[in-house]
Amino acid sequence: MTTTLLTGIAELTTHAEADAPGPLADAALVIADGRVAWTGPAAQAPDADERVDLGGRAVIPGFVDSHAHLVFAGDRAQEFAARMTGTPYSAGGIRTTVAATRAASDDALRANLRRLTEEMLRQGTTTVECKSGYGLTVEHEARALRLAREQVEAVTYLGAHVVPAEYQDRPAEYVDLVKGPMLDACAPYADFADVFCERGAFDAEQTREILTAARAKGLDLRLHANQLGNGPGVQLAVEFGAASADHCTFLDEKDIEALAGSQTVATLLPGVEFSTRSPYPDARRLLDAGATVAIATDCNPGSCYTNSMPFCIAVAVRDMHMSPAEALWAATVGGAEALRRDDVGHLGVGARADLAVLDAPSFIHLAYRPGVPLVHRVWKNGTPAG
Ligand code: NIG
Ligand code: FE
Repeated sequence: MTTTLLTGIAELTTHAEADAPGPLADAALVIADGRVAWTGPAAQAPDADERVDLGGRAVIPGFVDSHAHLVFAGDRAQEFAARMTGTPYSAGGIRTTVAATRAASDDALRANLRRLTEEMLRQGTTTVECKSGYGLTVEHEARALRLAREQVEAVTYLGAHVVPAEYQDRPAEYVDLVKGPMLDACAPYADFADVFCERGAFDAEQTREILTAARAKGLDLRLHANQLGNGPGVQLAVEFGAASADHCTFLDEKDIEALAGSQTVATLLPGVEFSTRSPYPDARRLLDAGATVAIATDCNPGSCYTNSMPFCIAVAVRDMHMSPAEALWAATVGGAEALRRDDVGHLGVGARADLAVLDAPSFIHLAYRPGVPLVHRVWKNGTPAG
């Protein structure tokens, strides 16, 4: 077993006890067997088989992007352009991507997924969640999850994304399909089930039926909740003990209290509000109430086509009033908690050695220098990427 000592770390954020009261300056980190074996002051670093001098850069845990829709074909650039000049975002655009995705070959979908996950890795994301939701038939949903499973670590069944056009006049039959044969075909590939609980997608009763069936199949739950308006999504997520309620753009006081008193993570997706020109979620109220907050990209061809966690951090800091430290935590540990993982998102001893080296002396530069490609190198599973 080769051990690797990373030196020349100007600032090390571990999100473990070593950080108290803040990141460690002039630090070192030892990787052994794909895991973090030691962190501490450079002056006390143990010997190792090999040394890598990082030249005075900041090191952070790799980002955990806990919400993305990456199995799709085509894009909706024209829809985006129209939106920027006044056409509001509508979930109806999902059907455009459904048609393109159904028509695409496995290899075309694989190649698009590969392109997106490689971009993510280059931007410091070392754990990715990916949903289905652009197939909406038994065959196409199962295919999406099978392809996602080949390339990402956390896979979510989202047959309940919208009611597809062919079921437009019989939504109850579509819900029966989603919680019956489609769930049976998809569950073997999935860790989680998700429902887009929103006016124009699935209502409280339909959501309840689908979540109940998915839970009975042994899947963990997550929910698209309160994205386009106030609604029952957050309350249902908490009631069902979901790992995460995602979007949380329109919350009332009861929703905030419910999240704060639960294990359900509030996953905020600031790229969506940026790309749909919508009001941002009230991250401060959630944090101040004691809710666990994650930040993720929601990368998809409709509401948000960025897969950059540094960009989302910059927006969360600038427009959602999170401190840079809160935003980094939400993009790493928060994402891990939203996926019910404790081995990623931090660099405590024993954690998976997933880390990003920044071309900057401090993680604060992620928000301070928006749009600048600051990720210098990435280690995943203890191995340098790229
Ligand atoms: O998370 N809200 C539902 N689904 C995606 C958007 C999908 C699309 O527009 O294609 C979201 O924003
Ligand atoms: Fe989404």
